[in-house]
Amino acid sequence: MKKIGIISGSGLYEIKGLTIKKRKKLSTPFGSPSDHYTIGYIEDAEVIFLPRHGSHHSIPPHMINYRANIWGFKKLGVERIVSISAVGGINKSCKPGNIVLLDQIIDMTRNRKSTFYDGKSISPQSPGSVVHIDFTEPYCPALRRTILKAGTKAGITLNKTGTYMAVEGPRLETAAEIRAFGKLGSDVVGMTGMPEASLAREAEICFSGISVVANYAAGINRHRLTTTEVIKEMRAASEKIKKLLRQTIIILPDRTGCSCADALKEAKI
Ligand code: HPA
Repeated sequence: MKKIGIISGSGLYEIKGLTIKKRKKLSTPFGSPSDHYTIGYIEDAEVIFLPRHGSHHSIPPHMINYRANIWGFKKLGVERIVSISAVGGINKSCKPGNIVLLDQIIDMTRNRKSTFYDGKSISPQSPGSVVHIDFTEPYCPALRRTILKAGTKAGITLNKTGTYMAVEGPRLETAAEIRAFGKLGSDVVGMTGMPEASLAREAEICFSGISVVANYAAGINRHRLTTTEVIKEMRAASEKIKKLLRQTIIILPDRTGCSCADALKEAKI
């Protein structure tokens, strides 16, 4: 049976249409995940859902235990994760309300525990190893293709590519930072995309990032940014996201056409 993990962000704390079978609280060698995992079914697929900020949005981006969250999915046998996040739009083609299927990342976070393989932790496969995963394509290309197809089938317009600038937060950016990020080639900016994506690769789980543009990033239009605006846009986009996820889950083929499941092959020293 297909087993799909969904990580959701600001303004999206549950998936309607999910027939819930159980909730599972897990502990991991890295501490506690953000919340219990909600396990249910959409058609014939098992869907495992986790709100990364907790169900009451009590965990800020820099305090999320990314390692525990991904480890928990691995422990539950999840092979593919779709991660939903709120972002600010930098590129003019990323407007509030747009849904961006990410294809690249620039990582500016520096203070997060970003690997299972720090030489002393217990890692999914073997403790204490040194690992350098290939991250040329940070998102699973096969899962991206399925989501693109699902978008067409469900009539949901997607921005088909987008480079995600990952920042530490929790503050929003300055106008000069956003200008610089644009020059570096990023299209959107967010606080939670990393190390989620690279940890999933280390765990050999296919991972895809879908971002909802919640606001124009700092300095792009002149008004003050508010979290009220972010939550409002995420809620407004939630019907479309649900349709897109549902269609993705329905048409998701067996896990073929990518090398995510072999990410650790020849990656260990
Ligand atoms: N910057 C960083 N993270 C965000 C933003 C933003 O403008 N909007 C939503 N998440």
